[in-house]
Amino acid sequence: MKSMVPVNTRIIDVFEETNDVKSFLLENNLDEDPLPGQFYEIYVRGAGEIPISIASWRDGLLFSVKRVGYVTERLHGMKKGDILGIRGPFGNGFPEHRRHTVLIAGGIGLPPARSYIEYWLSKGSRNMQLLYGARTPSDIVYRRILQEWSNYIDVHITVDKGDKEWKGNVGVVTTIFHRIKDRESDFIIIGPEIMMKFSVMELKKLGVSEDNIYLSMERKMKCGFGICGHCNIGRYYVCKDGPVFKYSLIKDIPEVFH
Ligand SMILES: Cc1cc2nc3c(=O)[nH]c(=O)nc-3n(C[C@H](O)[C@H](O)[C@H](O)COP(=O)(O)OP(=O)(O)OC[C@H]3O[C@@H](n4cnc5c(N)ncnc54)[C@H](O)[C@@H]3O)c2cc1C
Ligand code: FES
Repeated sequence: MKSMVPVNTRIIDVFEETNDVKSFLLENNLDEDPLPGQFYEIYVRGAGEIPISIASWRDGLLFSVKRVGYVTERLHGMKKGDILGIRGPFGNGFPEHRRHTVLIAGGIGLPPARSYIEYWLSKGSRNMQLLYGARTPSDIVYRRILQEWSNYIDVHITVDKGDKEWKGNVGVVTTIFHRIKDRESDFIIIGPEIMMKFSVMELKKLGVSEDNIYLSMERKMKCGFGICGHCNIGRYYVCKDGPVFKYSLIKDIPEVFH
């Protein structure tokens, strides 16, 4: 039964990923384990509640949060031992891993991609490719984990703007699409809408079927499970029918990629 009441949960640890991204490892007191691509509502007392994707649930519930406004700013001020309220997991999550899958992640889209990669690696799947775009080298999150994944799956990183030390590709994520191994793969895109829009355009040029493209959508939310009507796109609720949608299902809805 989905609930509007947050469960008090202790912060086990806080990790500084970049200048504006922190990861929070929380106790897992909830009855239900998540699936990759699902999200939780995180309640910061006195500030408000925000939807955040699960990044990992190996050692507790791990969330990585970019500081963008009021609630995320207050969350960034919290430390080990402090109490948050959480409820969830919500949403449909990513499709099952059934064949070669290309994850295309932009910016803070990497945490949800992590949930997928970690989950399917733990099940022995290796046929995945990750194309990750960050703004600058110092905005790259999970550096150690990216290195570890590259022992098992094909990982490519690009930055919009390099620096003196950066030896990798410079350019938006679509500039590394020539490295896509298999155009018959499933494609999961997670990131800002503008990045998803251009990624879809380029994939279509490569001949990828619209039925094999999945997008993780973001909208302002309140309840998180389909009762308040705050998060709709067309006739779908992003919280309940999504956040992950097959592109072919939502492509004609005017407010997608508005
Ligand atoms: C299903 C889902 C999963 C998410 N997962 C993550 C995650 O793993 N990590 C993470 O850092 N963020 C994630 N977000 C985004 C996060 O919820 C927002 O950044 C947060 O709600 C902002 O709250 P705020 O009070 O700090 O900012 P506000 O003061 O509310 O807003 C600051 C700025 O961010 C924009 N904004 C606020 N909420 C959203 C939103 N939902 N989508 C797009 N723009 C928004 C506002 O328009 C404004 O420009 C997710 C959102 C959804 C819907
Ligand atoms: S957030 Fe309430 S219906 Fe989606």
